[in-house]
Amino acid sequence: METVVSGIRSTGNLHLGNYFGAVKNFLKMQRENNCFFFIADYHSLTTHPKPSELQRNIRQVLAEYLACGIDPEIATIFIQSDVPEVTELYLLLNMNAYIGELERTTSFKDKVRSQPDNINAGLLTYPVLMAADIIIHKATKVPVGKDQEQHLEMTRKFARRFNTMYGTDYFPEPDAYNFGEQLVKIPGLDGTGKMGKSEGNGIYLSDTPKEIRKKVMRAVTDSGPQGENQEMSEPVRNLFTLLNVVSDPSVVDSFKEQYNRGTIRYGDLKKQLAEDIIRFNEPVRERIEEISADSHYLNKVVKEGAAKARESAAATIKEVRHIIGYRPFV
Ligand code: TYM
Repeated sequence: METVVSGIRSTGNLHLGNYFGAVKNFLKMQRENNCFFFIADYHSLTTHPKPSELQRNIRQVLAEYLACGIDPEIATIFIQSDVPEVTELYLLLNMNAYIGELERTTSFKDKVRSQPDNINAGLLTYPVLMAADIIIHKATKVPVGKDQEQHLEMTRKFARRFNTMYGTDYFPEPDAYNFGEQLVKIPGLDGTGKMGKSEGNGIYLSDTPKEIRKKVMRAVTDSGPQGENQEMSEPVRNLFTLLNVVSDPSVVDSFKEQYNRGTIRYGDLKKQLAEDIIRFNEPVRERIEEISADSHYLNKVVKEGAAKARESAAATIKEVRHIIGYRPFV
């Protein structure tokens, strides 16, 4: 049995990228492993949410996690800020994280470009907090999408560095865990890049059929195939990637064939894609509404999750303090 840790930032509602990149794997994993799934609400502070937004987002992501099928009876599901031990490990790991390597992180460099007015130290040390989240439970596996690969590599580095510095093999070096599948990148509807919370190019699990149809019909394509067996442009390839995750393989094959013959009509492809997304999404959206309305249940889940996560985190912190040299005076 492996110990698994994974998180989702509470920066906004869950989208299909989160689901097919990460959450879908959590569902399989929770049955066979010791799983910790959490809502990364400290991480969400890097974007400066208002207090009322912060609370609403945490609650929403929690309800969405549960609606997707994460089962609090078998996995530990908790809110990051309910486990303050993680901030202590974050502080300790920060002493062994070097400015140069943090500045070279791709996600940091992206933020420097995209939000030049808010390059805060939390963004710089984001991978350190993420490492603390993972190793505080001595996780061996971390299910993530392709975009988190580098952060996970840094987690391994910080764990290894701690072990080397203190001459111990205390922290395991965790691997990505996707059931032997490749790490995936679900694209957005804007023709390039990945579906993301900040990019405004996503379909959310809470979107209504009407919203989904509107978004999909507006998705970027190209001017149409110019002949047989043409190489696909990125926006069209992206639509096929989405079709692949929500549609029946026979549907995908049929559109591929039409593409290769040069007879495809993107309008038909989009209509099919929208309906298949709706078919996947509707039961989840209905569950989200049901669970969101059940404050008593949500309360119980976070209370029990916090207790379990704190127990695990506190045991690690106690040992880490000892390893570092914090000892009681005698
Ligand atoms: P976040 O909230 O951006 O994304 C949560 C999970 O969803 C995956 N994901 C995607 N996968 C495929 N295609 C996409 N378009 C896509 N968009 C998002 C992400 O890879 C991730 O697995 N830093 C993390 C949160 C975090 C965390 C952790 C994760 C904090 N501490 C410890 C694992 C372990 C993040 O921003 O995820």
